Amino acid sequence: MLRSRVARMLALAVAVACFAFPVPAAHAAPAGGPGAAGVGDPYFPLEGNGGYDVRHYDLSFSYDPATDRLDGTMVVRARATQDLSRFDLDLQQLEVSAVRVNDNPAGFTRDGQELKVTPLNRLREGSTFNVAVDYGGVPQTIVGSPIVFGSPYGFLHTDDGAFMGDEPNVASTWMPLSDHPSDKASWTIRATVPAGKGVVANGRLVSQVTANGKSTFVWDEPEQMATYLVTACIGNWVIKTGRTPGGIPETVAVDPTIIASRPDAVDFFYNTTAEATDLWVKDFGPYPFDSTGAIADNATFNGQPLGFSLETQTRPVYSAVRSTSTIAHELAHMWFGDSVSVADWHHIWLNEGFASYAQYLWTEHLGGASPHDQFVAEFNSRPASDPFWNSQIADPQRDTMFQRAVYRRGAMTLQALRDKIGDDAFFRVLRTWTAEHFQSNATTAQFIALSERISGQELGNFFQVWLYTPTKPTTW
Ligand code: TRP
Ligand code: ZN
Repeated sequence: MLRSRVARMLALAVAVACFAFPVPAAHAAPAGGPGAAGVGDPYFPLEGNGGYDVRHYDLSFSYDPATDRLDGTMVVRARATQDLSRFDLDLQQLEVSAVRVNDNPAGFTRDGQELKVTPLNRLREGSTFNVAVDYGGVPQTIVGSPIVFGSPYGFLHTDDGAFMGDEPNVASTWMPLSDHPSDKASWTIRATVPAGKGVVANGRLVSQVTANGKSTFVWDEPEQMATYLVTACIGNWVIKTGRTPGGIPETVAVDPTIIASRPDAVDFFYNTTAEATDLWVKDFGPYPFDSTGAIADNATFNGQPLGFSLETQTRPVYSAVRSTSTIAHELAHMWFGDSVSVADWHHIWLNEGFASYAQYLWTEHLGGASPHDQFVAEFNSRPASDPFWNSQIADPQRDTMFQRAVYRRGAMTLQALRDKIGDDAFFRVLRTWTAEHFQSNATTAQFIALSERISGQELGNFFQVWLYTPTKPTTW
């Protein structure tokens, strides 16, 4: 769902562009023509789709760990934002057997990651429609891409099931969708697995039924969720549910093979998650969703440990036992990334810099050095000659979007801001940010404007130095 403020901004941007120079016919949204193949992300031009706005995803699938095969039906409910003769969904690799629009058979073709759907009847601007896609195959893990630290990512086949970590661009390796954070929606996930296996996804467990040797788990996330934050991990799980001391419902799932080598793993994840979630409520504002938790799986690729953690909404995934600082980082993403999401991927420091800043706060919470002292130590530990400093973290480029500087220089930027505007203004900026963009999207320019508004200071030079100058800051 596009929030109206974003829609208005986009409309304004288009209007300004038209005024300055006529948009070539091929790029204008043709009234009644096909929807665009992408939303125009600078790093991922084909991610997301134009011409409609998703309201709800209802995904049903079965997965058999014995064959690695997934078979599903995705039902997308959307609203047309223009008259549509045709529109796209994003889907990689898997096969499509049928598509229906408003219960009528629809035409479809494949073109790279675009599934192009031609409804029987043209869709009218403003109307709500359903598209159902029957699909299946063996999802392939993404290997050899530089995007996520060069690590395999996406859909991982584990010893006992499957594990998904799709940021930023590979949710479409296991389901058809409009794969861009600017179009969030609510979700229902119905997963069927061999009896004895479990499924842990986002939000709350609505039902769990076993019949004829199969179990179906229905999970519901009624809050707005970006596509890359969806997960539905399959396997054997030890589950602990309850509430944090602050009252937030919590569900933690841990793979028993983790517990075999770390007998306290369930309590470790449960207690750390509760403590970090409640701490961030104090620092960042009300918890943006309806539950918190963790999914800790024993996930490897070709026998190699993955060492990965991802802020899947309400319930981050961990490929092994991780440090309390990493858990605190992933939970800070519930505010920064999951609720306040990037308007497009070049703003990634708004996720990683903020979640990394939270780790300074976490260290202090545990009795360690102050965030200021941690910042100074980190700043001094990297000489100006260190290539670490040679990037513009507010536009880090696609293949280096998760480079270290996006995290660490991002965290340093926020402490430098705190030193400049004072504690009171700084935390008001953070809490106003999470409130104004609650379950929505945001840009770096909006963060700069908010910091100036709340502090009353002119911060153009400050942010120019920290975010846009590819050298080590000297004065700011
Ligand atoms: N956002 C993750 C973090 O907390 C890093 C990440 C990006 C990731 N893409 C991923 C992790 C895919 C697992 C899978 O820093
Ligand atoms: Zn992160």
